[in-house]
Amino acid sequence: MEPIQVLRGVVVLIHLIGFATLFGAWVVEAFGKRGVTSLMNWGLLIAAVAGIALAAPWGITWDLNYVKLGVKLVILVVIGALIGIGAARQRKSGSVPPALFWSIGVLTLANAGIAVLWR
Ligand code: HEM
Repeated sequence: MEPIQVLRGVVVLIHLIGFATLFGAWVVEAFGKRGVTSLMNWGLLIAAVAGIALAAPWGITWDLNYVKLGVKLVILVVIGALIGIGAARQRKSGSVPPALFWSIGVLTLANAGIAVLWR
């Protein structure tokens, strides 16, 4: 394996740590208070930085699917907006509207599903 391929593998791993942090934090809340936590923001930030780094064609011999990456980026921005709105609602009323809370988990899973199933 070339060093650049190893480096890309490390960035993929960081991307997965971001996904695990975001989704794990959400699952904890799904079985708890169904609120928004700062850990979700950290997971999203880590997934975003690593994902954008992976959206450039380095360390691979195949072509990237930029339509797929664009869709993932839009979904990521929407998740960020929902976490932000959820946090504001939580501050004001003490809880997050259920539709908003569930959308965060569904969209996070959707992005992981798109990553794995859309080739
Ligand atoms: C909440 C947001 C996101 C989640 C949950 C997520 C999830 C995942 C998962 C589970 C994988 C591993 C599957 C695989 O290796 O095929 C992956 C890979 C990847 N993601 Fe994401 N992702 C997110 C956002 C993004 C964004 C915004 C971008 C870039 C615009 C991006 C770019 C990529 C790329 C390029 C890979 C393939 C890595 C490789 O094999 O070289 N992701 N993502």
